[in-house]
Amino acid sequence: MLITLESVDKIYNSGAINEVAALREIDLTVAEGEMVCLQGPSGSGKTTLLSVIGCIFSPTSGRATIGGRRISRLPDHFLTRYRRELIGFIFQNYNMLGHLSVLENITLPLLPLGISPGRREKMADALLDKLAIGHRKHFIADQLSGGELQRAAIARALINNPPIIVADEPTAHLDGKLALEIIDLLAEQKADGRTLILSSHDPAVSGHPRVDRVVALRDGRISSQVSAG
Ligand SMILES: Nc1ncnc2c1ncn2[C@@H]1O[C@H](COP(=O)(O)OP(=O)(O)O)[C@@H](O)[C@H]1O
Ligand SMILES: [Mg+2]
Repeated sequence: MLITLESVDKIYNSGAINEVAALREIDLTVAEGEMVCLQGPSGSGKTTLLSVIGCIFSPTSGRATIGGRRISRLPDHFLTRYRRELIGFIFQNYNMLGHLSVLENITLPLLPLGISPGRREKMADALLDKLAIGHRKHFIADQLSGGELQRAAIARALINNPPIIVADEPTAHLDGKLALEIIDLLAEQKADGRTLILSSHDPAVSGHPRVDRVVALRDGRISSQVSAG
């Protein structure tokens, strides 16, 4: 699904003493099936940009669309609906509920859809197998390793079969081999025609053969865009 951002700004705490212009005049188009990696130093606006694309919040100004649907200047309940329908969001700190099991965490996005418990578990099982954490299904999230948590977070992001995957520094807490496994898993999602947008400082991510474009951010602005290959 095509994503477009035109002159998007995001100002936190607008008008207050702690005002921050986190995104400034961002123009960005991401094609369906593309895998884009955002790069930039800490504080450059990566998480904010992913949050706008991921329908977590609206930009302060500018226009943003996903598949022709406007996601800027939208009431929260619409944004929530689009997030559920369109986006699989993988948060930097996983955002798993620590006292719930992996199965419960992964099937949370299915609860508002009125799918039966048996069907929910079947859907989870298929993904858990694919992500090689079926053996952790009944563990509570607090008992998982970093790599297992990241796999569980990916499973939760995929369970709704969203056309767009957004992943914020998906390898930040993982070391070399594990990081590569996770990025391979994410890149595989392209095969199903999904669009992927991720952020990372890890060269193993930005240099991954399946990444189509690296977009560099600096002080809330796009400082360069380099297409791979
Ligand atoms: N909720 C918030 N309230 C106020 N300022 C924020 C908030 N989130 C991020 N910022 C600020 O916005 C800028 C961009 O942050 P962020 O998007 O998290 O960058 P990155 O992910 O590249 O580290 C930073 O200056 C940060 O301090
Ligand atoms: Mg960030």
